[in-house]
Amino acid sequence: MSSFADFQNEIYLAGLAGAVPDLPMTAAGLAERAREVLDPKAFAYVAGSASAERTAAANESAFDRYRLVPRMWRGASGPGVRDLSVEVLGTRLAAPILTAPVGVLELLHERGETIVAEVTRELGVGMVLSTAASTPIEEVGKAAGSWWYQLYWPADDDLARSFVQRAAESGAQAIVVTADTPSLGWRPRDLELAHLPFLYGKGIANYLSDPVFRAKLAAPPEESEEALRMAVLTWVGLFGNHGLRPADIARLREWTELPIAVKGVLHPDDARQLVDAGADAVVVSNHGGRQVDGSIAALDALPAVVATVGDRADVLFDSGIRTGTDVMVALSLGAKAVFYGRPWAYGLGLAGADGVRHALRLLLADLDAAMGLSGCRGVADLSRAMLSSAR
Ligand SMILES: Cc1cc2nc3c(=O)[nH]c(=O)nc-3n(C[C@H](O)[C@H](O)[C@H](O)COP(=O)(O)O)c2cc1C
Repeated sequence: MSSFADFQNEIYLAGLAGAVPDLPMTAAGLAERAREVLDPKAFAYVAGSASAERTAAANESAFDRYRLVPRMWRGASGPGVRDLSVEVLGTRLAAPILTAPVGVLELLHERGETIVAEVTRELGVGMVLSTAASTPIEEVGKAAGSWWYQLYWPADDDLARSFVQRAAESGAQAIVVTADTPSLGWRPRDLELAHLPFLYGKGIANYLSDPVFRAKLAAPPEESEEALRMAVLTWVGLFGNHGLRPADIARLREWTELPIAVKGVLHPDDARQLVDAGADAVVVSNHGGRQVDGSIAALDALPAVVATVGDRADVLFDSGIRTGTDVMVALSLGAKAVFYGRPWAYGLGLAGADGVRHALRLLLADLDAAMGLSGCRGVADLSRAMLSSAR
């Protein structure tokens, strides 16, 4: 049974002793505090989206078009009656939430990925580990509970296969292929600071620790600055794979028995082709608006994808989740679980493990409380019938 909503009792009780929380209690508050406190380059990298950032804004405002219709007197509000757990792609989670793959966490904390692994494990939610991590897969695998590996499929199948194999051997329970980032979107905030972390050797730990990648180098990257520079150049040439097509999922299927999800799907026909090719799930996402500005808000893309493939694949949702009721709306529209992105990244930068825990507990407590007050004992109670149009 879930007791995530107890977070509020804990805070009010501490208030009796004169304590108020160190960190803001909303996702927007965390972003604002991060803007004040973090290194400007780190903040720009996390906060930045593509171009005029209209899609990033639309991801959040799309939720305004839906309203929940709570059903009182169904006995769901008391302590110990709710169970928010789900099973997605064979992974059991205490709530329908996984941390989104966020790369280059060393910009925010030197133990970034390990902290996220530890905290998600402690709370019983999932973690999706980025290919662009600052910590090798094997190390994160040792600390993590339920986790999936996000694959940026490089322009070299041997390397892609090596990443997948390393993830499977380290305990990953699914592979999430990100489809929308064969190259980076136009991101003014990073451009203004002329800052791309990868060029400084950040966020490429999985490459530098990979035998297939290392075999391409004339000298080990640890040996000298020049050797690291050459490794970065090799990375530049390998990062994006512009040749991928839905049929390639069938090849990935041959490499691994793990469930395969494809992240970055917005069009129902793409979803259909990917599922036809063997994907077990699609993640409706526009990468937090970081790739194509002006693209459809992720939430607006969700219903058609669910209608097209929802009967034979799991549909997950990512981009714009800020509150517990956002999670309820996405699940009511047919998502099986959601990815939660920037808010915990700000938490990591502000207060390390305490900040990640805080950001996740905000979401979980809000979700748990709102579920109970809406008459929902578990995710099975969420459906279109819970929703009304706000217009
Ligand atoms: C700083 C940052 C780094 C990211 N790195 C990756 C990544 O390495 N792989 C990936 O698939 N998505 C990456 N994403 C996208 C997230 O997984 C997710 O789609 C996005 O954060 C959702 O938007 P939201 O955080 O605004 O809700 C990144 C996002 C941010 C903000």
